[in-house]
Amino acid sequence: MLRSVISLLLCFSAMVPFLKYTSAIGDVITCSGTVPMRYRSDKISITDFGGVGDGRTLNTKAFRAAIYRIQHLRRRGGTLLYIPPGVYLTESFNLTSHMTLYLAKDAVIRATQDTWNWPVIAPLPSYGRGRELPGGRYMSFIHGDGVHDVIITGENGTIDGQGDVWWNMWRQRSLQYTRPNLVEFMNAKNIIISNVIFRNSPFWNIHPVYCSGVVIRYVTILAPFDSPNTDGIDPDSSSNVCIEDSYIATGDDLVAVKSGWDEYGIAYGRPSSGITIRRVTGSSPFSGIAIGSETSGGVEDVLAENINLYNMGIGIHLKTNIGRGGFIRNITVSDVYMENAQKGIRIAGDVGDHPDDKFNPNALPVVNGVMIKNVWGVKVQQSGSIQGLKNSPFTQICLSNINLRGAVAPGSTPWKCSDVSGAAVQVSPWPCSELIGTGRTASCSSYF
Ligand SMILES: *[C@@H]1O[C@H](CO)[C@@H](O)[C@H](O)[C@H]1NC(C)=O
Ligand SMILES: *[C@@H]1O[C@H](CO)[C@@H](O)[C@H](O)[C@H]1NC(C)=O
Ligand SMILES: *[C@@H]1O[C@H](CO)[C@@H](O)[C@H](O)[C@H]1NC(C)=O
Repeated sequence: MLRSVISLLLCFSAMVPFLKYTSAIGDVITCSGTVPMRYRSDKISITDFGGVGDGRTLNTKAFRAAIYRIQHLRRRGGTLLYIPPGVYLTESFNLTSHMTLYLAKDAVIRATQDTWNWPVIAPLPSYGRGRELPGGRYMSFIHGDGVHDVIITGENGTIDGQGDVWWNMWRQRSLQYTRPNLVEFMNAKNIIISNVIFRNSPFWNIHPVYCSGVVIRYVTILAPFDSPNTDGIDPDSSSNVCIEDSYIATGDDLVAVKSGWDEYGIAYGRPSSGITIRRVTGSSPFSGIAIGSETSGGVEDVLAENINLYNMGIGIHLKTNIGRGGFIRNITVSDVYMENAQKGIRIAGDVGDHPDDKFNPNALPVVNGVMIKNVWGVKVQQSGSIQGLKNSPFTQICLSNINLRGAVAPGSTPWKCSDVSGAAVQVSPWPCSELIGTGRTASCSSYF
């Protein structure tokens, strides 16, 4: 009964502009089961290793010693490292396999600001260099390379990057290498991040790269609106990633699925696939749900649903470029509410910069099979644009049940399209002729 009432409501939702998506509709689907949950009976506390949570004492040795103990005195089922309430200042550190980093309520792990002393590691092979600057890159604050069975959780304690010193270096152009991510997992498997608050990352917040089996849920990610490149979660050349029930308000894309950069990403050839994003709420001057622009290893099988966006640059943004190669295919974005956005939807083949001038201008991305449906927007200045590449038009781009209203009558500005084919059903404002002129059902059927 409830369900039929709700579907009736959805049918007439054009008349219910303020309907928001909540998790209260029907049975709630979750990431549970994507990665095995572990209960650890062996527990140690950072204070056992000399940790002091006074906000001033440097705890690098305590973290390294505790994690060394987990790695070398292996206990069956792994070990939980407990961080009690308090502020634990530390330099960057590496995690190890079979561990849980558990932050109590009011526990804060805070990064030092000694940028001159920060370790530098090799660039990612799929990027060929640091994302910002040539050469290596500063190691993430919390780093896990080649690990498996790692959990970062607790009672909503905080991982604080104290990123302002890094943002200022970026503003003053005094960085030597690419800024550190807050948390990065590389070549890792079976990772869970839940019930943690991330604050003021120097650069991207959570970066799983070359990973499989990653669950990120019940997280809060915060950074100022004007903080540069503080992306929320960037799954990169990773598979089987599930992100849900999270709030992200930062200075750059909330979630951006990537897979390497131009000739380096093409050579490395590792796609991102099987990415689920659901019940994410947030705001940002850039994109809400993004794919790209670094997609050279390919991005496929992405589902984003039940997304609420407020005060956005671009609500839904698929971006790639000449020289990227790779593909973006079988992407579904559905049930999105957005309020106060510069642009509702953008799919573009001319976004982002190149690592160097060795990129191949003939390496054109293939964009095929994108379904965007059930989108309600209010105060959306421009409806959207879909601009493919002349020599690689975007195909099977389907828009269904989309209503984007402007701040003032008659509404949002019209769609702009070029080099695209697909279909559009129940789209307001009226979609571009490229999408309504072609055979509808045929062009949307093979992936969906
Ligand atoms: C941490 O991991 C990085 C990357 O694997 C490595 O280069 C570095 O030496 C490690 N640092 C420590 C203190 O073990
Ligand atoms: C932690 O935050 C999550 C997400 O905001 C929330 O669902 C959960 O109830 C909080 N847990 C505690 C112990 O405060
Ligand atoms: C498309 O992606 C979805 C996940 O979003 C997946 O379940 C489905 O099998 C994929 N379809 C094809 C044809 O690969």
